[in-house]
Amino acid sequence: MKYVKLSQTEDLMPTLGLGTWQASPEVIESTVYKALELGYRHIDTAFNYNNEEAIGNAIIKWINTGKGSRRDLFITTKLPHVGNRASDVKKFLDLQLKRLQMDYVDLYLIHVPFGFHCDPQTLTPVVKNTGEYDLDMETDHISTWKEMEACQKEGRIHNLGLSNFNESQISKIIKTCTIRPQVLQVELHAYFQQLDLRKFCSEHDIVVTAYAPLGSPGAKEHFVNKYNYSPNVFPDLLGHPEVNEIAKNHNKTPAQVLLRYLIQQKVVVIPKSTSEKRLKENADIYDFELTPAEVNRLKKLDKGESGRIFNFLFWKGVENHPEYPFKLASAIY
Ligand SMILES: NC(=O)c1ccc[n+]([C@@H]2O[C@H](COP(=O)([O-])OP(=O)(O)OC[C@H]3O[C@@H](n4cnc5c(N)ncnc54)[C@H](OP(=O)(O)O)[C@@H]3O)[C@@H](O)[C@H]2O)c1
Repeated sequence: MKYVKLSQTEDLMPTLGLGTWQASPEVIESTVYKALELGYRHIDTAFNYNNEEAIGNAIIKWINTGKGSRRDLFITTKLPHVGNRASDVKKFLDLQLKRLQMDYVDLYLIHVPFGFHCDPQTLTPVVKNTGEYDLDMETDHISTWKEMEACQKEGRIHNLGLSNFNESQISKIIKTCTIRPQVLQVELHAYFQQLDLRKFCSEHDIVVTAYAPLGSPGAKEHFVNKYNYSPNVFPDLLGHPEVNEIAKNHNKTPAQVLLRYLIQQKVVVIPKSTSEKRLKENADIYDFELTPAEVNRLKKLDKGESGRIFNFLFWKGVENHPEYPFKLASAIY
């Protein structure tokens, strides 16, 4: 496993993590255990993935085998859209730590910059009769961040970060914070390389984590029939002829080339898989190097904003939130 050092705390973050979105609790428990056995030390989850408890079970089982300790692991989870307000940070963090059965997380991200009103019974967004999501127009990143800083000072969060924030939203936090964001997790793959945002992050010592690094092939089925989404526009990066040709050059798979391309540029990757074969494949990316010519070929696949998959418009009305982060004309839907 290779690591990147986080600037403020000097904590080491593994450059490969396991993504866990769309993995049910029943499946993820054995997957996380298998992944830890295979050498994964970094797990990415979120309140909204509804699998934190199962992940906690797997980690405890693994620690109990004596093969490693909690300190060997890097666990990321996220403050949900329904808890995106200062008064809810501690409530959600407490609940998430309880579910994960841990007394701290290594990284806590604000999952999205916008917020929804929360149904207190189900802890899910309130949806109006029209199907529109009940937006919390009072979302205030500065006060939410202050609460996250307080939790970090208490030791329950080791590092703070953001997800799906744009440059100006991040700048606003940097200007007022005591503890700077250490990590930004955003959609990032060969079709959507986020060059400007990555440059900005590098200037501010923020590590970038790529979600959907394989182009999220499973999302296509997930988004079928979702409001405002056309699955026809989903990329097939794994089937891309150039990616396949480069893979053949190295006797590697297209997935390994896509992941290697990102880690070679100091981007952390969190591919999701529940198959043992693909877990192994996705971890076997440290024994080869793409040539400068191959890197240039992959650079040319970037489609800019039109390569974005995750625009969140499936949450009807979300674009009317004052903190909706993306430019609408360029999002695919
Ligand atoms: N912050 C956010 O808003 C946000 C949004 C989306 C995702 N994420 C995080 O990022 C993680 C990764 O993103 P993602 O899950 O959307 O997409 P991804 O990792 O790009 O792709 C996962 C899909 O690819 C398949 N796959 C995995 N390895 C493969 C391989 N070697 N060859 C062929 N297919 C392979 C998986 O199927 P199998 O399981 O069957 O292998 C799954 O369907 C998520 O799980 C989540 O933790 C965060």
